[in-house]
Amino acid sequence: MINGRPTQAIINLAALRHNVTRIKYYAPASKIFAIIKANGYGHGSVTVAQAIADKVHGFGVACLTEALTLRQAGINQRILILEGFFKPQELSLIAEQELDIAVHNFEQIAALNSFRFAKPISVWLKVDTGMHRLGFPLEQVEEAARALNRNPNIRKPINWMTHFSDADDLNSPKTTIQLQRFQYFFQQGGTGLKTLANSAGIVAWPASHADYVRPGIMLYGVSPLLHKTAAEFELKPVMTLCTELIAINKIKAGEAIGYGGTWTAPEDMRVGIAAIGYGDGYPVHAKSGTPVLLNGQRTQLIGRVSMDMLAIDLRTQPQAKIGDPVILWGDGLPIEEIAVWADTIPYELFCRVSRRVEFRIKA
Ligand SMILES: Cc1ncc(COP(=O)(O)O)c(C=O)c1O
Repeated sequence: MINGRPTQAIINLAALRHNVTRIKYYAPASKIFAIIKANGYGHGSVTVAQAIADKVHGFGVACLTEALTLRQAGINQRILILEGFFKPQELSLIAEQELDIAVHNFEQIAALNSFRFAKPISVWLKVDTGMHRLGFPLEQVEEAARALNRNPNIRKPINWMTHFSDADDLNSPKTTIQLQRFQYFFQQGGTGLKTLANSAGIVAWPASHADYVRPGIMLYGVSPLLHKTAAEFELKPVMTLCTELIAINKIKAGEAIGYGGTWTAPEDMRVGIAAIGYGDGYPVHAKSGTPVLLNGQRTQLIGRVSMDMLAIDLRTQPQAKIGDPVILWGDGLPIEEIAVWADTIPYELFCRVSRRVEFRIKA
């Protein structure tokens, strides 16, 4: 079937591999669980895993289904399921596929105790050090550890994890507090592997590196810190979302553009229409003024984003024509900027790129 629609997400594997070398630069003594949940933050989990399998030590996903997708694609490294299991019925596949699981509540521990395992599994006891999302509260951690240690089906020593809520904010005292709360459990020489650091922990909190780091967003070339650019960390964008101009309109001064007429031409001007919209995952909340690259030069989105199209100000490019390339984010246009214009975060923009967009792998 021919799909001539030019809307594409180009996935740059060289950039991805380069970003892994940056992670190693910041955390040279730690192993890496590359976080590729939610289909590799929308980049394609199998594509990402296969491209970096020789450079990392394992992968982190949200759930069993995501882990099985990787195993079926031949990924045989360690895979950690960050939310563990939701239902006891998942346990036989978890054991059979040798998947590591986070354990974050006593219901899971009870299910582990009543299940008959063919072989022991590796667990990561999740400590809630202050994020208050998943994990045992501090006062229940020792009881949880004792219970896991009593279970003969669990590999010893058990492993430990926590997650930061504010590591991207260098002015917040929260990360230091979370670190201290986590370290409390090892002051008496506790054993087992430990993992704490997300991308922000990797670049900004070396004391959190421990045995494994868990980079997500920096793997994809996005700055892990507020008010810093990816370029400052020498990270390269992996996804470039692009399309082409499919129409050019001559608009008179005072005419409004698109649904609801939210933007009015201040002068006689040309407006380009690009083949991408919220049906492709481009954010409908991107405001007029959001930067786009046309022929490699910055111009701006004008009017409201439609399902399949959006309008571009051509006043700075009188030579622009149908078929000219448009980049919405990626090479030359950081997704962090687009996220600000759309009142969201790069994570969400990546995850929302829809199946309608053609994914092209650039080796
Ligand atoms: C438990 C856990 N670890 C690591 C990460 C990776 O975080 P980041 O993408 O900020 O590096 C995530 C992502 O949200 C997570 O939930």
